[in-house]
Amino acid sequence: MNILGIETSCDETAAAVVQDGQTILSNVIASQVDIHSRYGGIVPEVASRQHLLSITPIIKEAMKQADIAWNELGAIAVTNGPGLAGSLLVGVNAAKSITAAHNLTLIGINHLEGHVYANWLEGNTPRFPALCLIVSGGHSDILLMQDHGRYQILGRTRDDAAGEAFDKVSRLLGLGYPGGPAIEKAARGVNDSRYRLPRAWLKDTDDFSFSGLKTAVLRLVEENIDHNNDLETSSEPTTSSVKTEIAASFQRSVVDVLVTKTIAAAERSGTCNILLCGGVAANQALRKEMASKSTIPVFIPSPILCTDNAAMIASCGYYHITKGERSDLYLDVTPNAVIQQQ
Ligand code: KG4
Ligand code: ZN
Repeated sequence: MNILGIETSCDETAAAVVQDGQTILSNVIASQVDIHSRYGGIVPEVASRQHLLSITPIIKEAMKQADIAWNELGAIAVTNGPGLAGSLLVGVNAAKSITAAHNLTLIGINHLEGHVYANWLEGNTPRFPALCLIVSGGHSDILLMQDHGRYQILGRTRDDAAGEAFDKVSRLLGLGYPGGPAIEKAARGVNDSRYRLPRAWLKDTDDFSFSGLKTAVLRLVEENIDHNNDLETSSEPTTSSVKTEIAASFQRSVVDVLVTKTIAAAERSGTCNILLCGGVAANQALRKEMASKSTIPVFIPSPILCTDNAAMIASCGYYHITKGERSDLYLDVTPNAVIQQQ
């Protein structure tokens, strides 16, 4: 079955066609990052207007690249939450219109569950039970996945999400938006143990906390960086090395906590696999550390499938539809949706 996936929950307008939940026929993503970076973060009103401009050409492009006609589609899977209400509405309404026009099956997908399914897209079929680490701009969750669609939430962040911490620290260091890729680039090849930053282990729980780390970076920045003399073009070499060493030490701290806690949860739960997903899983330091430290086989999607895309939504839709689930044309957006525990 060919499924058209549509994803507009945040600042990427994306459409993809996936066959039988695992084979990508097309995967088209229009990023708005250049537009939002000048504001230092996502402006929701701007995001939804931009989705409106992009959605039709992106869907047409996904169909063209997949080289299929509308009547060769079995269903449409669309993200209906969590995310920005105005952005979600654009994707959901586009999906409903196409569904009605071509008499297709419709399924609304939880964006976070979609992230998990990026692990089924590159010729892999993870085994259950699996331990999922979802690390994105809004979430840092550890889930135990017993089967398709069956989740138990073991841990989540108590304050900032991992991606949010990257974005905030990047702003503190004047490295730009989005923070994850900016910090990764600044930290590459740099001493990551110059500053010993805190790690919130939160013993006896699988929860995370990153706000203390962010505050510690703020202190370091105040003590060590003179922002009046801190232009990217500064001829002051120590300023830039202090910045990159803080970035590297911050990244080290986040990676240590994510890897250690995820492996501990997987070992305790006796899972067959560990599945990483979400934008922060694109981080090379995290990918390397997780792969080298875990004795349990680890799956990590290619970076382009870690950040927001519609192929993961189409894949997730396939597994719901094969269980007989459907949405109707009353499908609404749920900006605060959570993964249903079963
Ligand atoms: O999953 P995603 O694309 O969107 C959400 O669902 O939130 O994740 C976006 C987050 C941002 O906070 C971004 O800074 C972070 O993922 N991110 C990264 C990297 N690429 C994106 N964090 C660390 N290293 C990266 N290479
Ligand atoms: Zn996402």
